[in-house]
Amino acid sequence: MALSLNDKFVKNFVSEDEISKISSEVYEAQKTLMNRCGEGNDFLGWIDLPVDYDKEEFARIKAAAEKIKNTCDIFVVIGIGGSYLGARAAIEFVKSPVYNNLKKDTPDIYFAGNSISPSALADLVKICEGKDVCINVVSKSGTTTEPAVAFRVFRKLLEDKYGKEGAKERIFATTDKAKGTLKKFSDESGYETFVVPDDVGGRFSVLTAVGLLPIAAAGIDIDKMMQGAQDARAKYISDDINTNDCLKYVAIRNILHRDGKSVEILAAYEPAAQMLCEWWKQLFGESEGKDGKGIYPSSVIFSTDLHSLGQYIQDGNRIMFETVLDIKNANDKLPIPFDPENVDKLNFLAGEDLDYVNHKAMLGTLIAHTDGNVPNIVIELDDRSAYSFGYLVYFFEYACAVSGYTLGVNPFNQPGVESYKKNMFALLGKEGYEELRSELDKRIN
Ligand code: PA5
Repeated sequence: MALSLNDKFVKNFVSEDEISKISSEVYEAQKTLMNRCGEGNDFLGWIDLPVDYDKEEFARIKAAAEKIKNTCDIFVVIGIGGSYLGARAAIEFVKSPVYNNLKKDTPDIYFAGNSISPSALADLVKICEGKDVCINVVSKSGTTTEPAVAFRVFRKLLEDKYGKEGAKERIFATTDKAKGTLKKFSDESGYETFVVPDDVGGRFSVLTAVGLLPIAAAGIDIDKMMQGAQDARAKYISDDINTNDCLKYVAIRNILHRDGKSVEILAAYEPAAQMLCEWWKQLFGESEGKDGKGIYPSSVIFSTDLHSLGQYIQDGNRIMFETVLDIKNANDKLPIPFDPENVDKLNFLAGEDLDYVNHKAMLGTLIAHTDGNVPNIVIELDDRSAYSFGYLVYFFEYACAVSGYTLGVNPFNQPGVESYKKNMFALLGKEGYEELRSELDKRIN
């Protein structure tokens, strides 16, 4: 088992009695999920994905990743939200946040189309100058503005450099299997396409081609990743809160929420987990934050943020609890050198591995924060392997779905995302938005 929940630092805040009281609600939510009878039940493809995925496409993903490795220096992955965060989280977590700067036999990987910043796109275009480039445009709907604009820019770049015929060998599209502008255009243009299954929403799609192609292109073992998710699935679809850590996590976070803790901070002592935290925030934020409900998902990287947000967590408004990701085995060993001068008086640590110090910082912080009345749930993860990443992804996806139903929301829609889009299109003068435009113009002026 790659993951276990340590509830030692939450025991003073949540009693066994409270857990047993809420467990019937959690079981009910789990039953709703597994019987596929709740709201959003047409988006449950992710539940069985680790055991029931398209094997033919999986083989094509590996072949495409190999082709990408052999033909380009830079692989640009274009997508936003669920069509971007999972892949980036995996690459940074399993490899490194400085993956692009490491010596390797796989291409540099950059992400585009996840903002509307001209500078972000222009910088990336400059980085690609003189390099061989392949791109993967990822959009389930095929109509999202941010990736669509970036795709225009990079398609032109590739067509100018390699011609239409050459470019089509370097463009990979991940989108709906039949619908949408991107699918139609890709088929007409002869691009290789991969599928975002109908019944898997963006934020639950990291184990589909959406995540798997970029992850495989980075040289990460996607078989092991799927295996991790498969083993997690076998463990978490059981319905005994005493042995199912995922249900226990759901129970504890909902008890804390009802007790007035409206913010959950995911804390990791590993910078490689930064994008994992971003993925997690999207997963829980888009799934639970609706109808005036939800736990606000936030994140910190320690010890970095102990020198900034640490003050607030220790001492500020008591509105939060923490979920701490404790990675048991670091990817690297780094012993602290001995200094004959002992200028910094740190020789008592000479010869100790830096990870030993990191773990002591974690334990010290766990005690300090619980003393400061911040409950801490600890998720212990073996390591940063592909297997553990797959396991952790499934843990959070399953927890998020059960928690959403426990909270009384549909965890699988995201109606709130549309509001900004409508206003943006109106302000940009898109056809069909004329009435809204004049209304907004009046408010602005
Ligand atoms: O989780 C979601 O559904 C969203 O974050 C989408 O992934 C995001 O909006 C991108 O959508 P699309 O893949 O259709 O471009």
